[in-house]
Amino acid sequence: METHGKYGGVVPELASREHLRAIVPVVREALAESGTRLEEVAAIAVTVGPGLVGSLLVGLTYAKSLSFSRGIPLIAVNHIEGHIHAVILEARRGGSPVEYPALALVVSGGHTHLFEVLEGFRYRLLGKTRDDAAGEAFDKVAKLLGYPYPGGPVIDRLAPLGNPSAVRFTFAKMKGNALDFSFSGLKTAVLRWVESHDLAEEIAARRAIQREYPQATIEQWAAASPQQTLDLLASFQHAVIHELLTRAASCAEGMGARTLIVSGGVACNSGLRKAAQAARLPYPVLFPTPGLSTDNAAMIAAAAFPKLERREFAGLDVAAQANLTLA
Ligand code: KG4
Ligand code: ZN
Repeated sequence: METHGKYGGVVPELASREHLRAIVPVVREALAESGTRLEEVAAIAVTVGPGLVGSLLVGLTYAKSLSFSRGIPLIAVNHIEGHIHAVILEARRGGSPVEYPALALVVSGGHTHLFEVLEGFRYRLLGKTRDDAAGEAFDKVAKLLGYPYPGGPVIDRLAPLGNPSAVRFTFAKMKGNALDFSFSGLKTAVLRWVESHDLAEEIAARRAIQREYPQATIEQWAAASPQQTLDLLASFQHAVIHELLTRAASCAEGMGARTLIVSGGVACNSGLRKAAQAARLPYPVLFPTPGLSTDNAAMIAAAAFPKLERREFAGLDVAAQANLTLA
């Protein structure tokens, strides 16, 4: 975050450089902390996509090198399947395994997708965003208003201070697949609202805070946010949550889902978690603990586990795929 924050988003070249710098010490530390030696590891799970190709290549090349030099089998994992398995892993561990068919709402900086999850981990894509991902909308709205990157966590903390019904945002009716999402219209509506409310001065003040205090606290951001702006943030977040939950609920009903899985960075959002509880849906709605909601390695290992049982190993020629799909 410190590396990318200055630029208001992830810079691909810096991301791969940081991966390269961190990968050896991180793997060593993980082994040390878990008291495991590499010789005891049954397989090496590695993300092959989707994502930034430079970062994928660092992980994949390192995993292949370990696999080749130590004779440990390699398992190729789809990043999105990892997000879904973050929930499956925790549900199993908590003693109440996920019941299928499940509906998975994967909602992150790069994805807003609805997948049907069938027994045996087979997936069917039911809907997706046609433009921005929900996390991307959080990030863009935050940036537009002078808040730091990533925008989701800041807006999440500030939204409860505002009135969610102060600004009415409406969503255009979807042509085609009714389960698709679209967030670019909402982003534009926020931009129009900002332009017509004379916020230039407060936005400049917040950008100055970012430069002066790279580690500014939530209290600092709250103090730099007039009530009208807090109301805007609350209304924006409310609109995103409403959109995510109504589409997911109607999709779940349509397919007869027995579980709703919500995962990905935006699943950290406390307003989304509260609204999902309050909706009293007729099936369990499962979120990962916040640490497993955003990108992490445990979810990749969890997604690899069924493949290990099936001995579904990857060859050393497996390639990184920036645009890999799950279904
Ligand atoms: O899953 P993730 O860590 O990385 C991707 O695969 O994209 O998700 C990152 C995204 C960012 O857009 C970030 O703003 C958003 O998740 N995010 C949140 C929250 N925490 C992270 N969005 C809303 N509320 C949050 N608390
Ligand atoms: Zn992710």
